[in-house]
Amino acid sequence: MKTTMKTKRFFLAALLAFCGIAAAQQQQASNNTLKPVSEFDKIADKQERAIALFTEAGKVINSPRCLNCHPAGDRPTQTNALNPHQPWVVRGADGSGAAAMRCATCHQAANYDNARMPGHPTWHLAPASMAWQGRTLGQICEQIKDKSRNDNMDMAKLVHHMAEDTLVGWGWNPGAGRTPAPGTQKEFGALIKAWAEAGAFCPRS
Ligand code: HEC
Ligand code: HEC
Repeated sequence: MKTTMKTKRFFLAALLAFCGIAAAQQQQASNNTLKPVSEFDKIADKQERAIALFTEAGKVINSPRCLNCHPAGDRPTQTNALNPHQPWVVRGADGSGAAAMRCATCHQAANYDNARMPGHPTWHLAPASMAWQGRTLGQICEQIKDKSRNDNMDMAKLVHHMAEDTLVGWGWNPGAGRTPAPGTQKEFGALIKAWAEAGAFCPRS
């Protein structure tokens, strides 16, 4: 009796794992590249071009590598399924965790693949004003431009942050067993720069 239950559970777990892998691979195949900026040149209308550019960049913004650190609440999420972070950790006053559970206790300066541990010298959670999970791309677009929410960054600083910041860059170098963000940081930065130059209009939804 006990063994049957165990066997059933084992098969269920194996099946779920298999479905997860299949779904992840499918998603990866269709979403892991970014179109070059030149593909958007043919859109004559500036506003439409800006929206199309940001929508393409949105493949990165909406990737789990970015969303996991831009959660809706005080707790980061993990994996491509955006599961709540295990163990329970919170943002804390400075984004680096509560006094007794600092991010850097586990997250070191670099990825540690043997333990599936992502790392970066300044690993910490985005402030609550920069929460992306549960928001539409249009809403995220409006809020990242809003100086009262984005750490007072003007457009030049914002473009620089996306194109050059190494914590953002971790998204393309996330360590073994993690799907990187689509394309490259350089391609992403170029899309954001072109979006800014076209007037930084946001998707309507
Ligand atoms: C390890 C956590 C972490 C990851 C991963 C992360 N971010 Fe952030 N993000 C932050 C923090 C923290 C800030 C606040 C600024 C700072 O302290 O560097 C921030 C701020 C930002 C901002 C400023 C504007 C705003 O309103 O959000 C942008 C844009 C941004 N991140 C983009 C990205 C993108 C794109 C990715 C994925 C490729 C990403 N981030 C992945 C932690 C992270
Ligand atoms: C007790 C150890 C521990 C502490 C403390 C900790 N983490 Fe983690 N964190 C982990 C482990 C382990 C993983 C990898 C889980 C996996 O993907 O299997 C992880 C993964 C993550 C991820 C998911 C990365 C991705 O996209 O796959 C984020 C985001 C994250 N942690 C943020 C934080 C932040 C922010 C803090 C501090 C507020 C923090 N963690 C504190 C152990 C910890």
